[in-house]
Amino acid sequence: MLLRRMLPQSGHLRIAEIGVYCGRGTAMWIVELLNSPVTFDYFAIDNFKGSADYESENLYEKTIQNLTPILNKVNVLKMDSIEAVKRFPDGYFDVVYIDGAHDYESVKKDVNHWFPKVREDGYIAGDDYVKGWPGVVRAVDEFLKRHSLTLIRVGKQQWAAQKTNEKPVKIGFWKRVMSS
Ligand SMILES: C[S@@+](CC[C@H](N)C(=O)[O-])C[C@H]1O[C@@H](n2cnc3c(N)ncnc32)[C@H](O)[C@@H]1O
Repeated sequence: MLLRRMLPQSGHLRIAEIGVYCGRGTAMWIVELLNSPVTFDYFAIDNFKGSADYESENLYEKTIQNLTPILNKVNVLKMDSIEAVKRFPDGYFDVVYIDGAHDYESVKKDVNHWFPKVREDGYIAGDDYVKGWPGVVRAVDEFLKRHSLTLIRVGKQQWAAQKTNEKPVKIGFWKRVMSS
């Protein structure tokens, strides 16, 4: 599971999940976190408008009902992803998980807006990095390339990358070292 890979053995984690739908993923993450040694702040962000692929009738109410037993562990923010991002300072999150709208432009916007909110050595990650969602794959590939980040595949469809300041060493550097 993605979170297990990213969980430290102690400390306090701040996590944002973009795209909550009915709260299934949220519930799984919270259970995993409660069974771990860390403390956490969890922000579940969704405009609860759904999409063509996801039913949207009474989505917010249904989600709140589903999450009732763990509502004291989750901060549910009913707002657009790009509005929500303005609420947090840069470097605030240990993990940002992108699973909102799946078209190319939306994923591009989400990764670009949320990446600055991830702390150094934290993770940005998401779902549906699969052939069936070409917009997700394209936006994620472009984003990783632009920031020289290494793709971590988790399971069959999740992607993640660790934010690091280290830039890949250019070939020209090695040429100079070898010839000096
Ligand atoms: C794929 S579902 C999320 C699934 C969920 N993470 C899970 O594991 O069950 C996508 C969700 O993103 C939400 N969404 C789509 N565009 C959004 C936007 N611009 N801002 C916030 N939420 C958005 C939809 O309302 C929908 O609930």
